[in-house]
Amino acid sequence: MKKYNNGEFRTKDVGLQYTVYGWVNKRRDMGGVIFVDLRDRSGFLQVVFNREYLKNNFELAEELRNEYCIKVTGKLINRTPDMVNPKIPTGEVELMVEDLEILGEAEPVPFNIYDDQEVSENIALKYRYLDLRREKLQKNIILRAKITQAVRNFLNANSFLEIETPILCKSTPEGARDYVVPSRINPGSFYALPQSPQIFKQLLMVGGFERYFQIAKCFRDEDLRADRQPEFTQIDIEMSFANDEDVMNLVEEMLKKVFWDVKGIKLNDFPRITWQEAMNKYGSDKPDTRFEMYLNDLTDLFIDTNMNVFRTAIENGGIAKCLVVKNNGAHYSRSDIEHMVDFVKVYGAKGMAWLKYDDDKFTGVIAKNLEEEKLNLMKEQLNIENNDLILILVDKPSIVYAALGALRLKIAQELDLIPKDKFNFLWVVDFPMFEYSETEGRYKATHHPFTMPRNIDEIETAPEKALSVAYDVVLNGYELGGGSVRIHDPKMQKRVFDALGLTDEDIKNKFGFFIEAFKYGAPPHAGLAIGLERFTMLMSGTDNIKDVIAFPKTQSASDLMSEAPSEITKEQLKELGIKLDLEDKVK
Ligand code: AMO
Repeated sequence: MKKYNNGEFRTKDVGLQYTVYGWVNKRRDMGGVIFVDLRDRSGFLQVVFNREYLKNNFELAEELRNEYCIKVTGKLINRTPDMVNPKIPTGEVELMVEDLEILGEAEPVPFNIYDDQEVSENIALKYRYLDLRREKLQKNIILRAKITQAVRNFLNANSFLEIETPILCKSTPEGARDYVVPSRINPGSFYALPQSPQIFKQLLMVGGFERYFQIAKCFRDEDLRADRQPEFTQIDIEMSFANDEDVMNLVEEMLKKVFWDVKGIKLNDFPRITWQEAMNKYGSDKPDTRFEMYLNDLTDLFIDTNMNVFRTAIENGGIAKCLVVKNNGAHYSRSDIEHMVDFVKVYGAKGMAWLKYDDDKFTGVIAKNLEEEKLNLMKEQLNIENNDLILILVDKPSIVYAALGALRLKIAQELDLIPKDKFNFLWVVDFPMFEYSETEGRYKATHHPFTMPRNIDEIETAPEKALSVAYDVVLNGYELGGGSVRIHDPKMQKRVFDALGLTDEDIKNKFGFFIEAFKYGAPPHAGLAIGLERFTMLMSGTDNIKDVIAFPKTQSASDLMSEAPSEITKEQLKELGIKLDLEDKVK
């Protein structure tokens, strides 16, 4: 068995005989002497093949190529002073090999393992097991394991039980699209893979376990982005006899502990803001608070302006907001600003007004249209100085928030305003209970339909204003996790279903077994789930979720290495009672 970590040898270990294992990271053949950096997951050790010391014939050492897997035995010695490499931790020592055994020969690899040369993503994913040998992925996957371990330690120490829940589940609506699995034994019936263990963890509370957690696999058939995968992992938590404060305090303590254990970083207390404050100030429910450049409100100022477009938009329920890009007016040309206008149009904005302030005066398209008095008030209110750029949007609140929120981030990236070494956590609380779906013409649950409303009467009288006892934990502009206090009273649950427009029939079909459980003395409970990949991703400093998953999927949800998904045989289909109808599908 392998006993030593190659990256841990130091001068104190010199003088003894060791057997070490690993991969030939790089070799230098000096004729008569061959140097190999022998890599394992802890790092490298230089091993030296010298005709004089090697018991095998030297030709065996000459056969070695990059990525051969080998076992060597020899004596650890100090390197001569001119050979010391201060850049690597084992740079003062080397192993003088006496015995070599080749454990696995390697064909030429499709890309170098030893450097961080760019490799096309397709090639890297096809040969994922080789990409995994590279330093960056090794570090990330090890970090992920450490995080998982620290989470388990913390939750175990706090009386949480780790309980697994099913992967073959019943398809329940709401949320993303399900991945479905046909049942051979029940032809025509399908399981769904869990989008989260939500229903089961609540039933575990009804089942009397009080404190549950799971490092849970979740599956969602949704459009993929840099921070989303079809199959991902949640640190899933549920607690009985606990309220929102209890969950937030516990999770905050857990995140602080994990950061301390894994990174040695002491986090400050997480600030809390309401959803509405987050939208007003940052245009986002997952604000990146590492830089300022807030959204400023101009609705009161423009409510009685002579500028028709602004005034009518506000009269029709719109709001006016602006971003002030400080001291960078000259940086942005007219055509740059045109590009910004195109950018906000993607979010549904019809256009964007702008002003520049320089030489103590405003310029820009609306500088002539807007009253002098309004310009002066704006200057005062927003503390405008020379070389400032002001970007103004007047539209429906949802459009203004989305467009300016995204533009805020884009500009911050362009101007390099975001400090890279900060970890800005915060809690966003008091989410709206419902979102109105224009396409479906009905209210949908913002979180999920089992979320406790702040005020039950409000969900009937003013659903658009109703708030829920839901909370998200946000880190550096990413939604790291979310949770809520759950409804445990069947009467209240019924009122929420009614507000969602679900009929008794719908409820019975979709959540019947779940609702049934709450008739038998359900405890009050609350919980939350953290995205393990997002957490690892942010902790490791990458912005690509694939970098923290051993075997990730591509943008089109396929695994290039194993070539999943793939067709199945006619026999398999027949057994499942499935006939394919792919006429409308692009193959
Ligand atoms: P929610 O849907 O907000 O809540 O998910 C919780 C967290 O899971 C992560 N996440 C993802 N990570 C990678 N790829 C995805 N496709 C993906 N989707 C979500 C995010 C997110 O914050 N059952 C509730 C939790 C609860 O109420 O307890 C739930 O699943 O980091």
